[in-house]
Amino acid sequence: MMEHVLVVYATITQHSQKLAQAVGKALGVQAKSVEECSKDDQAELLFIVGGIYAGKSHPQLVSYVKNLDNTQVGKVVLITSSASITHRKQKELREILTSKGIAVLDEITCPGALLFIKLTHPDKRDLQSVAGSARTIAAKPLISYMQ
Ligand SMILES: Cc1cc2nc3c(=O)[nH]c(=O)nc-3n(C[C@H](O)[C@H](O)[C@H](O)COP(=O)(O)O)c2cc1C
Repeated sequence: MMEHVLVVYATITQHSQKLAQAVGKALGVQAKSVEECSKDDQAELLFIVGGIYAGKSHPQLVSYVKNLDNTQVGKVVLITSSASITHRKQKELREILTSKGIAVLDEITCPGALLFIKLTHPDKRDLQSVAGSARTIAAKPLISYMQ
């Protein structure tokens, strides 16, 4: 049987790990780093959490989604943090998933400050807000699966 929700992240400065753990906690599942994922993992709803580096997604997430197929995963929600507000989109991940027939339901975004700029994002409020949005999205498919 498919496990309902899976939360997967890749990270360089731990922001995505923090966000994934907050989302996992809100949804009652353990967030996993992309290295901990196995080929057999299945999910009705998959949250993929990552930052933007030189304008691109984390390369580990790109290979991860390249290896997914639509019998394994129902729908995906992207969770993205970046320093700059423009380009805070995981365009490549979205394109790969869509081309595989895996629908991207939504993209939840939040600020992710670069380490050398002394700003603390994602902060507690960012984590709460992202986890809240994830919970709202997860509640919808749960209802539709019961039909
Ligand atoms: C090597 C590196 C390159 C980055 N390049 C960009 C960038 O091009 N645009 C941007 O908005 N943020 C950039 N950032 C900021 C990250 O996207 C942001 O801090 C994100 O929250 C990092 O997530 P992580 O800690 O999970 O790796 C960069 C960060 C690092 C470490």
